[in-house]
Amino acid sequence: MATLQTKVLGIDFENPFLLASAPPTAKIESIDKAFSLGWGGAVFKTITPDNLEMIEASQRYATWKQGNKVCGFENIELLSHLTVQQWLDGIKFLRQKHPTKVQIASIMAPVVKEEWQNLVKTFNNSAIDAFELNFSCPHGMPEKGIGMAIGTHPEVSATITRWVMEVAEKPVFVKLSPNVSNIVEIAKAVEDAGADGLAAINTVQSLMGVDLDTFEPMPNVNGKTTFGGYSGMAVKPIGLRCVAQIRQHSNLPILGIGGISNWHDAAEYITLGADVVQVCTEVMVNGYGIINAMKKGLLQYLEAKGFNSPSDLKNRAIKNLSAHETLPKSTQAYPHIDDNICVKCGKCITICDESEHSALSFDNGAINVERNSCVGCSLCSHICPQNAIKMRI
Ligand SMILES: Cc1cc2nc3c(=O)[nH]c(=O)nc-3n(C[C@H](O)[C@H](O)[C@H](O)COP(=O)(O)O)c2cc1C
Repeated sequence: MATLQTKVLGIDFENPFLLASAPPTAKIESIDKAFSLGWGGAVFKTITPDNLEMIEASQRYATWKQGNKVCGFENIELLSHLTVQQWLDGIKFLRQKHPTKVQIASIMAPVVKEEWQNLVKTFNNSAIDAFELNFSCPHGMPEKGIGMAIGTHPEVSATITRWVMEVAEKPVFVKLSPNVSNIVEIAKAVEDAGADGLAAINTVQSLMGVDLDTFEPMPNVNGKTTFGGYSGMAVKPIGLRCVAQIRQHSNLPILGIGGISNWHDAAEYITLGADVVQVCTEVMVNGYGIINAMKKGLLQYLEAKGFNSPSDLKNRAIKNLSAHETLPKSTQAYPHIDDNICVKCGKCITICDESEHSALSFDNGAINVERNSCVGCSLCSHICPQNAIKMRI
């Protein structure tokens, strides 16, 4: 029998699904509800010293939708509006009511040693299991020299990590930004500075769009906007890439985040090096209840594969990442068209012709693949409106 339990840095996770630092973890009552519904843990909405001003804008969200499905989500939201004391009381309450759930305090402070260390010392004495340092919020905070302004500089990231490690009595994860040219450089800087683990990714800096009648960009704050943070299923490939790149260069535990909307996404993150995962946007779109299907799906998958726990799945795909130069190039895949599904619309022929290769044509009413021209790029299989084309070697 497989289990979803896993252990990271001595912390027992009853399942590898955590709520990421965001609105679903902004209120104690909500976290209480999420724990009751089965989430394994929560990273709190980022806590700051009480004197750091948080004045929010409205509107603060914008979405990219296909039909009713939210594919991409932008926010320009700031950090927690609870005081440090409210968090301390809430942590105590949550620990008593949910003793087995993992509680992680996400924190951020101005770049002043005492400010970071005071915050850490305050939460050392609480029942949290770990800290997550938010070096990665891409909006609002960078203007004050914090958030992503820290996480885009290896030296500043390392300095603050050292300050925190001097006083932290709980494991410390550093949450990294994808908005850098080399995430490994920042990961290695904080690892060398003593971080116990890493979390990736925070949101991808973005601008959702522009209303072409009014020229007002989105999200619309009384006609204006600011660059925001992109999340949701659209960012999963960026998150996977970042986690895999970090795993290729570091053995530290990784909390995988970014576009996880079901157990399958979570499993992919784990195969690329994540120890456990965090979810934000999918919960904001569909509610805490998604946890049931996530737990059930991952457990069934582990059992079907003969794995005992998520840790058996960890890193399984890493060995299959290689430099382009060393990819196995002696074989080629060709399109195979299922004549029972193909409606002979000819779209694949047009697209193949207009995107370099001209390898497809009609032949007696069927689609013919000209093997000498086909390079096996797979474009036809992705654009077929009927899903009638499969690539095979
Ligand atoms: C509305 C909103 C608020 C967020 N607030 C925080 C925050 O306070 N601290 C933080 O570290 N990350 C914050 N995030 C980032 C998420 O924790 C997460 O890293 C990101 O959304 C990617 O995961 P997802 O695709 O599952 O949403 C926020 C994200 C959203 C959408």
